[in-house]
Amino acid sequence: MLGKRILLGISGGIAAYKVAYLIRILKKKGADVKCIMTPASSDFISPLVLSTLSNNPVQIEFWDRKTGGWNNHVENALWADLFVIAPLTANTLSAMSVGACDNLLLATYLSMKGKTIVAPAMDLDMYAHPTTKRNLALIKSDGVLVIPAESGELASGLDGEGRMAEPEGIAKEIELFFSSEENIHIQKLKNKQVFITAGPTYEAIDPVRFIGNHSSGKMGFEIAKEALNQGANVCLVTGPTILSLSHPNLQLISVKTAKEMQEVTELNWKHADIGIFSAAVADYRPKNEVTEKIKKSDENLVIELVKNPDILAWAGQNKLPEQILVGFALETNNLLENSVKKLENKNLNLIVMNSLQDKGAGFSGDTNKISILDDRNKLINFELKSKPEVASDILVTIINYSC
Ligand code: PMT
Repeated sequence: MLGKRILLGISGGIAAYKVAYLIRILKKKGADVKCIMTPASSDFISPLVLSTLSNNPVQIEFWDRKTGGWNNHVENALWADLFVIAPLTANTLSAMSVGACDNLLLATYLSMKGKTIVAPAMDLDMYAHPTTKRNLALIKSDGVLVIPAESGELASGLDGEGRMAEPEGIAKEIELFFSSEENIHIQKLKNKQVFITAGPTYEAIDPVRFIGNHSSGKMGFEIAKEALNQGANVCLVTGPTILSLSHPNLQLISVKTAKEMQEVTELNWKHADIGIFSAAVADYRPKNEVTEKIKKSDENLVIELVKNPDILAWAGQNKLPEQILVGFALETNNLLENSVKKLENKNLNLIVMNSLQDKGAGFSGDTNKISILDDRNKLINFELKSKPEVASDILVTIINYSC
């Protein structure tokens, strides 16, 4: 931890007193520690204690009312190698999960490019509440590492889960983070170009209606995040989605239709080392796009559909020997049989299979259950997992295939 710059965020709970011990441990291990407190937390531990132990001024407000000096949350975030929030109260957790930033600690969290680790602390019923569970899951999916609260005697006198992890335990997690960060050179996709398709496509019937599907884009975005974590440069082309992602190594291209996705693919596939096609592309589009809203009449309406380009098949036809092409198969029946056909017909190296018959798999949700088959006939079945975990399984399988 020698020379590591740790920003310590303290929110307002009784466990704030333990932070004094945490600072001592971190300082002994050679870290440079700066504290940011929420206004409420200074009721639980004095800023003087923290500034004395950390040997740095403590920041609470955006500016110093006496001097007009400005505590710059952006500078804080740029300074830090790691942001640790301990204790994390239900209130600060809830604000983090929605991106609220009405105090310096929260604004710093939103400005952080590096990792944030949190140690929740609250009473047992608050910790067990579905809102708390949901908010913890949300910040986890944003990349925050959560050190679970422990069981034991609580400040309320009750006994149960909700106690902040002990300072020694938190320090251990921090050490683990830095030691794994030092292994960053083992990022398996460093300098690789990864091309990913995600989300649905919308094929216009008229200015009001379209043919689409239930894809949210989550699976593709998680694959993109994992590829970026592995050091890749990523080109992510996505159909309509509410998701967003930004990263210095990411080119994000938004499209609406299959034809637009095909055009982006034609421009970018040749630059890619790996292509992962997770988009749910509409196979057909209305032959004629009507420019005015179709009026209701007493007659049935027949819309003639024409075939869309098969983007993945095009990439397979234009694949260089050193390129790795990964397709998806989403089926309701005969998953393996149909996937084998897709693997062969589209000239794929690997195919990721998911079935709408499996509970929790496929569209929209936060989980998926996949199997991966490669062109050497190797089949791997995975359990139902969160989409970030599924993304990691997919990339590990691709990396192992290419080694
Ligand atoms: O986005 P989420 O809500 O997280 O949901 C994820 C997902 C269910 C969409 C994803 O896991 C998935 O299964 N994506 C593929 C969906 C699909 O269209 O499967 P398919 O079996 O119809 O297509 C086979 C392959 O060909 C896919 O790689 C698809 O991207 C590609 N394709 C299909 C048609 C077409 N015209 N062009 C294509 O590139």
